[in-house]
Amino acid sequence: MTKFKRTLVTTALPYANGPVHIGHLAGVYVPADIYVRYLRLKGEDVLLIGGSDEHGVPITLKARKEGITPQDVVDKYHAIIKDSFEKFGISFDIYSRTSNKVHYDTASQFFRTLYEKGEFIEKESEQYYDEEAKQFLADRYITGTCPHCHKEGAYGDQCESCGTSLNATDLINPKSTISGSVPRMRKTKHWYLPLDKHEPYLRQWILEGHKEWKSNVYGQCKSWIDQGLQPRAVSRDLDWGVPVPVDGADGKVLYVWFDAPIGYISATRELTDDWEKYWKDPETRLLHFIGKDNIVFHCIVFPSMLKAEGSYNLPDNVPANEFLNLEGDKISTSRNWAVWLHEYLEEFSGQQDVLRYVLTANAPETKDNDFTWKDFQARNNNELVAIFGNFVNRSMVLTDKYYGGKVPSPAEFNDFDRETLGSIEGIVKRTEEALENFKFREAVKEAMNLARLGNKYLADTEPWKLIKTDEARVATIMYVSLQITANLAILTEPFLPFTADKLRNMLNMGGADWSLCGKTEILKPGHIIAEASLLFQKIEDTTIQLQLDKLAASKKANEAEAKTAAPARENVSYDEFTKMDIRTGTILEAEKVAKTKKLLKLKIDTGIDQRTVVSGIAEYFQPEEIIGRQVSILVNLAPRNIKGIDSQGMILMAEDADGRLVFVSPSEKVKNGSEVK
Ligand code: 2FM
Ligand code: ZN
Repeated sequence: MTKFKRTLVTTALPYANGPVHIGHLAGVYVPADIYVRYLRLKGEDVLLIGGSDEHGVPITLKARKEGITPQDVVDKYHAIIKDSFEKFGISFDIYSRTSNKVHYDTASQFFRTLYEKGEFIEKESEQYYDEEAKQFLADRYITGTCPHCHKEGAYGDQCESCGTSLNATDLINPKSTISGSVPRMRKTKHWYLPLDKHEPYLRQWILEGHKEWKSNVYGQCKSWIDQGLQPRAVSRDLDWGVPVPVDGADGKVLYVWFDAPIGYISATRELTDDWEKYWKDPETRLLHFIGKDNIVFHCIVFPSMLKAEGSYNLPDNVPANEFLNLEGDKISTSRNWAVWLHEYLEEFSGQQDVLRYVLTANAPETKDNDFTWKDFQARNNNELVAIFGNFVNRSMVLTDKYYGGKVPSPAEFNDFDRETLGSIEGIVKRTEEALENFKFREAVKEAMNLARLGNKYLADTEPWKLIKTDEARVATIMYVSLQITANLAILTEPFLPFTADKLRNMLNMGGADWSLCGKTEILKPGHIIAEASLLFQKIEDTTIQLQLDKLAASKKANEAEAKTAAPARENVSYDEFTKMDIRTGTILEAEKVAKTKKLLKLKIDTGIDQRTVVSGIAEYFQPEEIIGRQVSILVNLAPRNIKGIDSQGMILMAEDADGRLVFVSPSEKVKNGSEVK
């Protein structure tokens, strides 16, 4: 780290189209926060930059679906996200947003610079256009039949049924989701960043110059570069985003992945007039904390943009994480398979550090990992409560009891005391080394080893058995225990900031001073400590069960939905379809069929005749409430004898996933006997 004077840490800007969940926290924000807190404690010059990513098609889709504006959508979620991060102690120097004016100015200026330097290629291509809505269609705005699994309703960028990535032009029978019309191809012009031109530089810079990057990051970069890079469009035909700031670009905005990383720069500008020092001085180190799906944008696309601009630093490291799963399943917003941070904050009030701890101890650093509520409970009860909390509590309560809360003067240290005190420094060193190498799991494990050391020391020395006979020995034991406790109050600050703060208050230590970490006389004899209160509380089975029940309810709701959306049956020909003679009719009479629960006997005026139909709807409708109702009836269904009654036809009903039935009726009154086709 010697060649750098300061560090700029950025965290991926989450899309403001939904709240944030544990996957976000584990993958990006907790590790970045730990790292930055550590550097700050060491007195380094460091900034932590974050903000919401407020552009992109999903936001416009959500707005359209909810009948509100994209700005309404991002205003709502930006506030929720910002609040969640704040409450989890993510210590941003600024948490901004890409709908801010400063961002529009910065992103436009950046584009113009590249444009004027001739760093873009302009190309015409054919894209789907909705002639009714008079607009080009982003891939997500087009649905059709998937060419792979033949399921209808596949999106232009992906079929959610079989998971295949698609281009809108792959879809069979494409339809605009805006007007429902069939889109036509139309020529449109866009600006492209020629990544192929930057390939030789990227190859050298990453593959030769950054062999120290995490293997998952390096490996992904290598595979992209080895496959050969292509020019990437940096503009879109859309009405939400930063307008392309050149003539002849009406109706075009910067592609969200072009403007979002510039958001890091805008946020720094918003924070300080001295922003250029953090972006352009070669003595500043730039680090991007991201999840694995963002690697190509932060290691290949954004560096190419920065390089093309010419005056910016490139990232020194991109410590990307893999994904966190939940109870064995991929976290999914649309399936509500997630632990939402705003909900956790309500349900586990004051226990932010527990989640921070579990997500760090089990972070998806080198491979995808699983969060389970049982593991959460076990780590809280067996580690935070039984080791950390127990040790701190015993050392403080005993000091209070034996010495009125005053740090005693140690008598003589024996070998075990010296060995114990001597171990502290090693633990601190190993924690630092792990932190500096972005190995946060290892770092938190080391930090917990300090609590383990203390716990074992008290268990082995048993001062409570000696107090009557050997007070001098007890004074030494309590002194040693308190030095370990004080070290814990500093060493755990990056990981468990709320707990460390509480502990330092209990110890009357003031702020955390990292230079004291590893020392064995932090609390001097005679120093008065305050009253101890519990740092962690046991989490009961019932609390965990509530969370598991909540997830089970999500799963059930999804299964019900999947049932409703079950794949269509085999195709029928038009001729087969027209064989069915469906008419509108009116229910004239209705009565229960004796000795059955489900059946009603109906008399229907079909416009052709009056006939009897037995229908299985008795659980949902009382006979008297349906008389006079217009319905659809299949009149040429072969007659069937049901419970001794000749049934001539079938009433059409819609059935939802819960088995609830509703009539399929004409939306306004029509003559009985009208054909349904
Ligand atoms: O994947 C995402 O959630 C993106 N919104 C991340 C953007 S990171 C940066 F470029 F702003
Ligand atoms: Zn498919």
